Amino acid sequence: MQSEYQHLIDLNDYPVSWWQKVVELGEQIKNDPAAYAHKCDGKVMATLFYEPSTRTQMSFQTAMIRLGGQIIGFDNPANSSVSKGETIKDTTKIVSNYADILVIRHPIAGAAKAASLTADCSVINAGDGGHLHPTQTLTDLLTLKIEKKSLSGLTVGMCGDLINGRTVHSLCKALSMFENNHFIFISTPELRMPAYIKDIIKANGSSFEEADTIEEVIGKLDVLYMTRIQQERFASTEDYLAQKNTYVLDKRKMSMARKDMIVMHPLPRVDEITVDVDDDPRAMYFTQAKYGVFARMALIMTMLSEKKSFETLKGKVYPNVKCDNPKCITNHEAYLPKSFRFSRDETLLECEFCDERKLI
Ligand code: NCD
Repeated sequence: MQSEYQHLIDLNDYPVSWWQKVVELGEQIKNDPAAYAHKCDGKVMATLFYEPSTRTQMSFQTAMIRLGGQIIGFDNPANSSVSKGETIKDTTKIVSNYADILVIRHPIAGAAKAASLTADCSVINAGDGGHLHPTQTLTDLLTLKIEKKSLSGLTVGMCGDLINGRTVHSLCKALSMFENNHFIFISTPELRMPAYIKDIIKANGSSFEEADTIEEVIGKLDVLYMTRIQQERFASTEDYLAQKNTYVLDKRKMSMARKDMIVMHPLPRVDEITVDVDDDPRAMYFTQAKYGVFARMALIMTMLSEKKSFETLKGKVYPNVKCDNPKCITNHEAYLPKSFRFSRDETLLECEFCDERKLI
């Protein structure tokens, strides 16, 4: 299925050279932001945020304003026609006629892809449930490029809620495309990285290991990427409380890390990094959030300057096959095509909206 607009749903829909161009442009913007002040004069960006956000929404809005453009949108669906039962299809169809670019965040996996099927402008995925968060990844790649001077040869520890954390899913998919990156996943058995992400890492030629504690691996790391336990994605409060406070990065653990290790975190932080770590020069999370504006300025400029069609669905529609993921958009908006592709080894069907796999 073709769309006449370019969308960013998953970074892996594009070649690595495309992301590198965006990251390089982000770095140029950081070095001379004034030179880009009128690049989007007369353009309108809509932000449709069905789920709370501080950094992603405001950094997108700041990015568009700093490029000379204007913004519209909502950050609380209760104040829009969504509260009257409007579908994603209708909301995006309407808003995409008002705006040149549409940024969507939604609590259900695959929602941004669903929006891209009907939008009459470019769609950017600003986080779809526990699935993906490609613009955080562009921010993270820009941070690594500036602060570590490389996107390859890195040992990256990822700690916390790896099953529900969309930022770490997108970042693994991206970093595994570069050479010699090694991942160390630090989590409880319940919150391990999903199997489909591990398969992608292996297929891309990168390696990973799993660990139970920060202490046992911190000395090996170039980067420690902390995440919060995603309370809103747990089935019950008891399940959440059982995981809360398992991993806390503090000064004592930082003393075991290398002098050149950096600490990243997409934020918001809950209690997984103590505030006294903030003064450590290796703490990069606030700088990372600042770089998010430059990464998003670069992305908006790229999306608005290239007029390319986009293949929204590549798989096959099976009208009678249901995705097994209850948090998949196809189980919430009935009009969506039940589109699946075959897994690499052809033993599984993968939902094109949320990547959930099922045996054929
Ligand atoms: C993250 C998100 O929304 O996925 N935050 C962000 O975009 N900066 C991480 C989180 O909510 O924990």
